[in-house]
Amino acid sequence: MRRTVSLSSELPITGLLAYCRAGFEAECGEELLQAGLKLGCQVSVEAEAGSGFVRLCSVRPDRRLQQVQWADLIFARQLLLEVGELTGLPERDRLTPLLTALQGLPLKVGSVWLETADTNEAKELSGFCRRFGDKLAPALQQAGVLVGPEDGVRLVLFWRNHGQVHLALAMPGNRSEWPQGIPRLRMPFEAPSRSTLKLAEAIQVFMSAEEEQQRFKSSMRAVDLGAAPGGWTWQLITRGLKVLAVDNGPLKGNVQGHPQVRHFRQDGFRFRPDQPVDWLVCDMVEQPVRVARLMADWLADGLAREAIFNLKLPMKKRLAEVERCFDEIRERLSGVPHQLEARQLYHDREEITVYLRRLSSRKR
Ligand SMILES: C[S@@+](CC[C@H](N)C(=O)[O-])C[C@H]1O[C@@H](n2cnc3c(N)ncnc32)[C@H](O)[C@@H]1O
Repeated sequence: MRRTVSLSSELPITGLLAYCRAGFEAECGEELLQAGLKLGCQVSVEAEAGSGFVRLCSVRPDRRLQQVQWADLIFARQLLLEVGELTGLPERDRLTPLLTALQGLPLKVGSVWLETADTNEAKELSGFCRRFGDKLAPALQQAGVLVGPEDGVRLVLFWRNHGQVHLALAMPGNRSEWPQGIPRLRMPFEAPSRSTLKLAEAIQVFMSAEEEQQRFKSSMRAVDLGAAPGGWTWQLITRGLKVLAVDNGPLKGNVQGHPQVRHFRQDGFRFRPDQPVDWLVCDMVEQPVRVARLMADWLADGLAREAIFNLKLPMKKRLAEVERCFDEIRERLSGVPHQLEARQLYHDREEITVYLRRLSSRKR
């Protein structure tokens, strides 16, 4: 359930700040711009290629920007409300001007995080952020700005360089809970490929831990299209599912010959199971629109109840391609209640991951 926390009406929300994969600033910026314009806000985008973040700047403070939902954005790893910016912070004392600025805002927060973009350049600031954070947190407590609770509004200080910082807020229920929006997942040594982390992350992103327990049960069956060498299949069998793994290539490691796995050396576009399955997953490197149609067909025909799949986006007009795919899915599933969500995961490269689920009319 979405938690709502109200901010003082005096707090100037000057824009939005989103983190994204470096190289995807244009797509992330376009999504933010469309969201802002839809709300009637007068906004423009600051998106420098390769910077790993995007800003939506409002002509004047605009509270409506709070309505933009992180879950609706595909290319944003994190979404923040911007409430100020400081430049030219002096090396000998950054704390005083920062405290003065924060005390001047009608703001109480539950936690404070110091962050940078996820680029090699910005990584050089991580040591500074740690050291400065150790000084800042007690000072903010003393100043009555940092008051808890931990899961309340999070103040994020987003450092561009040692002298420039954006003051931003991550709102409960409308934010990533991971620092920099990045899940630090351990690579399971038994899994046959690093791709395994994509499905592991997708499951965490698209459902809560309780929902995961409900949706993946040992009585269930799944089809994995484009399964080789077996990283996604591995995620499914470790959750107890039986998997029909479809790929002309070989499965590897302990997935090969595993008692819960049947390997079909077939074309993923032609394969159909004898009986409907619970899950369909697909990581085939193919034209996105072909994959989107295939996924929608399976769900429309009742062959699977839910699907997680990747859309590879090596083309220039990536956002337009995603919209084309979603239009196809919605058209094929018109009249069938469904949930469609997508995100460019941390473990995704030139691709996004989509979650598509048939809803029973009862649950609508
Ligand atoms: C990125 S790899 C999949 C990696 C896999 N998800 C894992 O975790 O190990 C893509 C796979 O899709 C398979 N593939 C591509 N087109 C296919 C098709 N039409 N039918 C079946 N498999 C296909 C390739 O053989 C390749 O093994």
